Order: sequence, then C-alpha cells, then structure tokens
Amino acid sequence: MRRKVIAGNWKMNKLPNEAIEFIQKLEPLVKDTKNEVILCVPYTDLFYAIMTAQGTNIKIGAQNMHYEEKGAFTGEVSGEMLKSIGAEYVIIGHSERRMYFAETDETVNKKLKSALKCKLKPIVCVGESLNEREKGIANEVVTKQTHIALEGLKDSEVSNTIIAYEPIWAIGTGKTATSEDAEKAIKAIRDEIAKMYGQKISSGVIIQYGGSVKVSNAKELFNMPNIDGGLVGGASLDVEEFSKIINY
Ligand code: PGA
Repeated sequence: MRRKVIAGNWKMNKLPNEAIEFIQKLEPLVKDTKNEVILCVPYTDLFYAIMTAQGTNIKIGAQNMHYEEKGAFTGEVSGEMLKSIGAEYVIIGHSERRMYFAETDETVNKKLKSALKCKLKPIVCVGESLNEREKGIANEVVTKQTHIALEGLKDSEVSNTIIAYEPIWAIGTGKTATSEDAEKAIKAIRDEIAKMYGQKISSGVIIQYGGSVKVSNAKELFNMPNIDGGLVGGASLDVEEFSKIINY
C-alpha cells in the first residue's frame, strides 16, 4: 500500500516568524496522522522551519533549486546547500517556474538528477494547460513531461521521486479537476513510469494531485486508487484548513 503524502506549497508567502508560529500550531493538529506531512517554504524560512519542526512529524522542503553544485549563478541555491541545513524535500518544475522562469522539461530532468544525487526527495510537477485539456491532449502532455523528467534515472531514484499532477488551469483558480479526470491523468502517468521502469517500480511511486485542493474536495480526490495525496497551495497558508486536509 502506498502512503498518502500531503505537501503544502507556500510559494512566496510567510516571513520566518509566521513560519515558526504556523508550525507550532500545526504540530498538535497533525501529530496523530498516518499521512506524511511536508511544508515547502521560501528559502528565507527554511532554517527556522527546520528548527521548529525538529522532533515532529512535519517535514520541510524547498520550492526550487539549481542543478549545478556550485559556481557563478548569482541568486541561485544548490541542492547541497538545501541539504546542508536539513531540508528533506524540494519541489521541481512547478508550472509557475516553467511559466515565469523559463524552466523546461530538460532543466527539470537536470534538477531532478541533481536533487537525488544530494539525497533530497524531489516532488516533480507536471500538468497540462487549459488549451491542451480542451484539445484532448492532456494525458499526452503529462506523460511526455513525465518521460523527459524521469529519463536516465536509476530504479531506486525513481522510487524516491514524488510526482505531482497539477493541471495548470486548476492552480489558484478555485477550479479543481474532477476526481475522475485527475485519476485518469495520474493513471496515465503511472502507466508511463511502468513503460520506462516496469510495473513494480511504477506501482510504488507516490503521485499527488495539486490544483485548488481544499477541505471540501480532499477526501474525494485522495480516495481515488491512484491518487496518493496532494500538493496544496493556497489552502496550506491557513493552519486550520491545512490540518483538516491532512486529516481528511
Ligand atoms: P493551489 O496551488 O492549491 O493554490 O491551486 C497548488 C500548487 O500550485 O502547488
């Protein structure tokens, strides 16, 4: 049985004092959950969040990294830097990074390899645009993104990778994919992983849904057979709401 993994993506929100307060409030609300709890916070909150979450079941991740180990890349942060302060997870290839910061399937693949080399656990985002969904090519788009992202990985590395299926039109819009559509896309992603790495590896990979996950839709989505939890943006900024999603 795959575990359910609920990850918050704070995006560019919350100062260190707010992060500390949030984690202190979240801890008693989620301490008994069987689900895995992750918070992906801004770089500037990372150290404080990691310190505050120590000894709890809340794991901390970053939202991006560079694929090079070090060098003349002004403003960038490497996987080794994240790992060195105790980050466990890193989001890679979020659609906002693809859209606003020119990330491509190829850079996503490089970042994924670099993250795994540093022993970070990556959460790789894939998802189609509204136009692609309306054209009926959603599953084709996400399987291609998945294929390029995972190309050249070892079996054990694929097993340590989390995929988040996030249809772009559902992110921050209040529109959620129906649980059936999300299930179909995630099944297509799982089938692609099976083609590349075999059934056994594929059936163990955690694949989340993301895009306007809320208390009101979490249960229906997370109860689908192929959906292993969620990547939660807006609703992860409110501690009550986020804890209810975790305890769906
Ligand atoms: P949302 O964002 O929950 O606010 O739609 C999800 C995400 O971008 O990861």
